[in-house]
Amino acid sequence: MFVCSCFGVTEEQVRSHADAGACTPRQIASACKAGTDCGGCVRRIQALLGRGSCPRRQLIDQGEQPLAAKVPEAA
Ligand code: FES
Repeated sequence: MFVCSCFGVTEEQVRSHADAGACTPRQIASACKAGTDCGGCVRRIQALLGRGSCPRRQLIDQGEQPLAAKVPEAA
């Protein structure tokens, strides 16, 4: 099932990036671009990450800016 339809990123891909150490939507975006176009998938990505067991998750939750708040730069 696709999480990010803009880039065709699946739930499985997000999980595998999370397993590899991506703890935030921003890190997922760095890994596969998911969430960097319309931003509509960021909450789904957050929900997927929230179910993981990243040890840094709580610290990041306290300081991380939501990815959707970023304005994409014109290419
Ligand atoms: S659905 Fe992921 S950026 Fe649009």
